[in-house]
Amino acid sequence: MSNYPIDNIRGDFPILQRTVHENKPLVYLDNAASTQQAQPVIDAVSRYHNQTHSNIHRGAHALAAEATDAYEAARRTVARFIGAASPNEIIFTRGTTDGINLVANSFGRARVEEGDEVLITEMEHHSNIVPWQMLCEQVGAKLRVVPVNDRGEFVWDEYERLLGPRTKMLAITHISNTLGTINPVRDIIEAAHRHDVTVLIDGAQAIAHMKVDVAVLDCDFYVFSGHKIFGPTGIGVLYGKESLLKGMPPYQGGGSMIRTVKFEKTTFEDPPFKFEAGTPNVSGAVGLAATIDYIESVGIERIAEHEHDLTTYGIEQLKQIDGLRMIGTAEQHAGILSFVVDGIHADDIGRLIDREGVAVRVGHHCTQPLMERFNVPATVRASVALYSTRDEIDTLVHAVRKAVNVMSRTCPVERTEVRPSGEDIERTQDRIVQEFNAIPDWEERYQKIIELGKRHPSIAESLKDEKWIVRGCQSTVWLHPDLKEGKIAFAAESNAMIVNGLIALLMRVYSNRTPDEILNTAPRFINEIGLSQHLSQARANGLAAMLEQIKNYAVVFKSVAASS
Ligand SMILES: Cc1ncc(COP(=O)(O)O)c(C=O)c1O
Repeated sequence: MSNYPIDNIRGDFPILQRTVHENKPLVYLDNAASTQQAQPVIDAVSRYHNQTHSNIHRGAHALAAEATDAYEAARRTVARFIGAASPNEIIFTRGTTDGINLVANSFGRARVEEGDEVLITEMEHHSNIVPWQMLCEQVGAKLRVVPVNDRGEFVWDEYERLLGPRTKMLAITHISNTLGTINPVRDIIEAAHRHDVTVLIDGAQAIAHMKVDVAVLDCDFYVFSGHKIFGPTGIGVLYGKESLLKGMPPYQGGGSMIRTVKFEKTTFEDPPFKFEAGTPNVSGAVGLAATIDYIESVGIERIAEHEHDLTTYGIEQLKQIDGLRMIGTAEQHAGILSFVVDGIHADDIGRLIDREGVAVRVGHHCTQPLMERFNVPATVRASVALYSTRDEIDTLVHAVRKAVNVMSRTCPVERTEVRPSGEDIERTQDRIVQEFNAIPDWEERYQKIIELGKRHPSIAESLKDEKWIVRGCQSTVWLHPDLKEGKIAFAAESNAMIVNGLIALLMRVYSNRTPDEILNTAPRFINEIGLSQHLSQARANGLAAMLEQIKNYAVVFKSVAASS
């Protein structure tokens, strides 16, 4: 798109100028998780803190009045942006999750009864599953699920079959955060309304990427988060039709939402205040209004067009990589590119491309039922935004290709990695440190960890059981202890290769040791070979969780030995 002002836009987002991992330019493709903030948004929030901050709605002084004005002006900005009939239809929340919980607890508890049904889809984020599940359990209603087809599209026939006299509520995502599917929500809402079904749209992934007009959609509720629309975290919006909001009981009680309080009885404010108990996130609302102004200055339709071009290009390029399979191939597709590569865990790809400066998300993306539907443990998800470029897509594709090569390469087995029998635990750590310190470059140290992972033996299938899973790891890690002649032999494995490399090192130090040896030995090799600085926080947490579990087993076996 020749007239899209990409250079100016990128210049507005200071974080895009930074580098990561020793001067690699940041290629930020994790926008479905959180978007970055433009300088005008940062400035607006900073100005608010420098000049205006105060509590709102109840102060008698100048700052209180200014802060109240700023907050209520933000509400009007949001209302205009999404086509609400009145600012009274805009409730500020903490985010999408908070908004859905509000509707499930207020509208849901008042209107959904025993035997009723709540409809969701197979592609929902956990935020749009769990609150409804909880509601159904509380009131004795049933949760029904509209399936998706192999392309990741909403299945109309099933939807129409499931819509029935007991259906009270439909909660559906506008755009799937994992598949990128854009749901035809207008038609879906129309069909629901023919059955008197109230509809909530989860707009977390849509609001920054396409024109949203709640009047055109005719949805009953629409929710989104500030941090997914280039605004601050901790602020979000629940839009609700005023007629519905008026009839709903409050969700939380406290200051600001009441008219009168007596010990015998409290009366409540009208919406939106009835649903905003306590001091709200005023600076967040100010930042949200500023980001809406920013988006409007670029034009949401132009943004959508730019992202559509990147999406088409990205899918074409990614599909050229051997063994790569897109998860989510809907015809109506937003800029969320989810994929897996045969034989390589998503976690490993994420970790390796991060070294190239490419930020993506790996995992189940809070859509575990969808992972099950597509029979994958995790995907790599790259997601674009208004500041993304074709060059960034090229860097992503190049980095994924390189990661696949690294993971597929093999190298000869080195005998030094086998622990000589009877070697002292500290001596083993020394040898690991020597081996790693002989490799000057961290890229090559990674390669070594990957190689160790590849050669790490698989454990018996019978040990890959829920009860041996180590909690706190991003990938799945099984750790099974076995006491033999006073020593604990561990069998451990992960479904991610790099983690298997770390396991190989841990096993070399800690397996076949006495409980005392395990408990008295700090894993100093981790610091000494530089793992602490070079592992991501998630990996470091995983490593810490494995170590803790190893030590826990040592404590258990020690106490068993003492009592027998
Ligand atoms: C579709 C969808 N719904 C809900 C959420 C939850 O948003 P938040 O964590 O901002 O409440 C997300 C976040 O990723 C999402 O993508």
